[in-house]
Amino acid sequence: MIFAGEARNLKEELAKAGRGEAFIIQGGDCAESFSAFDADTIKNLFKIMLQMSVVMTYSNGKPVVKIGRIAGQFAKPRSSDMEESGGVELPSYRGDIINGIEFTEEARIPDPKRMLKAYNQSAATMNLLRAFSRGGLADLSEVHRWNLDFIKDHPLGQKYEKLSDQIDKAMVFLGAAGITSNTTLQLRQTTVYTSHEALLLNYEEALTRTDSITDEWYNCSAHMLWIGDRTRELDGAHIEYFRGIKNPIGCKVGPSMKPTELVELIETLNPNNEEGRLTLIVRMGASNISSLYPPLLRAVRDAGKNVVWTIDPMHGNVEKSSSGFKTRDFDNILSEVKQFMDIHEAEGTVAAGIHLEMTGENVTECTGSTSSPITADTLGDRYHTQCDPRLNADQALELAFMVGS
Ligand code: PEP
Ligand code: CO
Repeated sequence: MIFAGEARNLKEELAKAGRGEAFIIQGGDCAESFSAFDADTIKNLFKIMLQMSVVMTYSNGKPVVKIGRIAGQFAKPRSSDMEESGGVELPSYRGDIINGIEFTEEARIPDPKRMLKAYNQSAATMNLLRAFSRGGLADLSEVHRWNLDFIKDHPLGQKYEKLSDQIDKAMVFLGAAGITSNTTLQLRQTTVYTSHEALLLNYEEALTRTDSITDEWYNCSAHMLWIGDRTRELDGAHIEYFRGIKNPIGCKVGPSMKPTELVELIETLNPNNEEGRLTLIVRMGASNISSLYPPLLRAVRDAGKNVVWTIDPMHGNVEKSSSGFKTRDFDNILSEVKQFMDIHEAEGTVAAGIHLEMTGENVTECTGSTSSPITADTLGDRYHTQCDPRLNADQALELAFMVGS
């Protein structure tokens, strides 16, 4: 799926973000699915990521490192082995790469052939991402075209249009100086890296190869892989696997993490203290982050460890709506991001990026936000997620405007 050299490039970009010279947006579905696989959905995610990048670059002057939760994000850790519905108990759904989401005994039997299907879908997705990145869609003179149809007429879409107009003017100015997207590659194309939780080691190991240039091991199923909050035990199989690959890697950091445990985990995963190697994806929840996060951050800083700090404001903010849907509220998501930024500001360290479950589609899965006033009662309108609730395109763009400002 990827070349080792590309993973090394990403590592360098992550190192820059860790030093405060770039900002990371990592985002995509909670879980990709076999049924919701089509070119438009991928294109819309690509466009919303470009829009968010433009908004953030314009406000803070830093390049954005774009990483999709895509082209391999299929396996899901579950809190419970069994799922109950209407008095019937069945094994939980574990992502399309393992079993089926339908609530039948047959669908829930793990099927190894699903790994081949996931691989083929990932390869097709990757092919599209490469085409969108290099084939003209990412050209900075096309910023207006990234505005998604259903937000164009909203206040937010109009705010984005205004920003696009300013970029157009800058492009005309540059063009007069002889710099155009024909002469300058950076104006014409971009890179969207891929990532997923490397949960299913059967799949990950099969795609692990030695790089012919360096003779080192790389996981070639994605540029970046991360370890989930439920599988990060120091003596567990996932840490053991991740120790051996040279890709840039991530690890979720949830409420149960202790400072000494975190420092030990960093020493295991990044023994050479290499910049850009390890991204810590913090997911405490809006009501926990102010008490739980500073002691962890200080322990890592005081131990002199190089890590890239990012915030996942999704997984600590899950709630059940009064209408019965699993949801997340935009205000809690925004609050956790802002608190994360403030804590870094106070500690003199770098908040390097955000990690979101989001889609370029007009879904109704998370409540709140001014641009997209979804309530408990309207969650059912277009609730399409395969697993956790995602920000829709409006909400994702609003978050970019609010975080950027
Ligand atoms: C996820 O990112 O989809 C996920 C399951 O996260 P966590 O491991 O943080 O719960
Ligand atoms: Co999730």
